[in-house]
Amino acid sequence: MTRIDLTELLDLATDAARRAGDLLVETRPEEGPTVTATKSSPTDVVTAMDTASERLIVETLLGSRPHDTILGEEGASEAGTSGVRWLVDPIDGTVNFLYGLPEWAVSIAAEVDGQLAVGVVNIAPRGEMFVAVRDGGAWLGEERVHCNKDVPLERALVATGFGYASSRRAHQAEVLRSVLPRVRDIRRGGSCAVDLCSVACGRADAYYESGPQEWDLAAGVLIAREAGGRVQGLRGRPPGYELTIAAAPELFGPLHDLLASAVDGAARP
Ligand code: IPD
Ligand code: CA
Repeated sequence: MTRIDLTELLDLATDAARRAGDLLVETRPEEGPTVTATKSSPTDVVTAMDTASERLIVETLLGSRPHDTILGEEGASEAGTSGVRWLVDPIDGTVNFLYGLPEWAVSIAAEVDGQLAVGVVNIAPRGEMFVAVRDGGAWLGEERVHCNKDVPLERALVATGFGYASSRRAHQAEVLRSVLPRVRDIRRGGSCAVDLCSVACGRADAYYESGPQEWDLAAGVLIAREAGGRVQGLRGRPPGYELTIAAAPELFGPLHDLLASAVDGAARP
């Protein structure tokens, strides 16, 4: 076991997320950021500011901890030896950022020896910083947050998201057709990191999505778990690309079973 001070990691992640959030809020051009590349589809864009934010975060992390491993959405890839691995999403909700919608965040997580240990989601346009340390609870600023309890499936407000590839969206639409009639309503905010924080603080009862990568999910997953949520994939598998479901434990079961049968019945993405 690598002996690491998790408070030190949390402080560093918070500092990096704050600096990146400030950069993004203060320097986003009024006419909108420049799209510099596309990734999995023509609508999966990278702006100059995704890249600048990732660069600043990597410099901040490595400046204090030069022997850590880093994986970032926009290509950051550093192989370290310390047992600490950072997962960095420099803007989660890039399309919202592009359009000037206030639903995006900087997301930074640290794993120690492969286990999620620290998560920070800075929803900079709202001035909200969600943080969690393993076994230390989830916090919005100074306030401890908790998932909503005892919400039956039919009264659950469920956040979800859609990928960029057309085939994945067709699959997601089929799954949604089974979910929508069975829940209170659906929200599609545009940032899975923000969605997971919404579950953590009771602004949504649950979240599910297929397609997000580990840099999208990691920090929000720890925050939702530390807020009392159960976060897993299908049939006991870990959360991830195939499916991530987050909800208070008593809602998780019915939502999981609904999603499992909807996914089984839908065409493959
Ligand atoms: C996306 C957002 C969105 C989710 C997509 C993600 P990006 O991340 O989290 O909510 O539905 O699956 O790819 O591209 O804005 O960093
Ligand atoms: Ca992302």
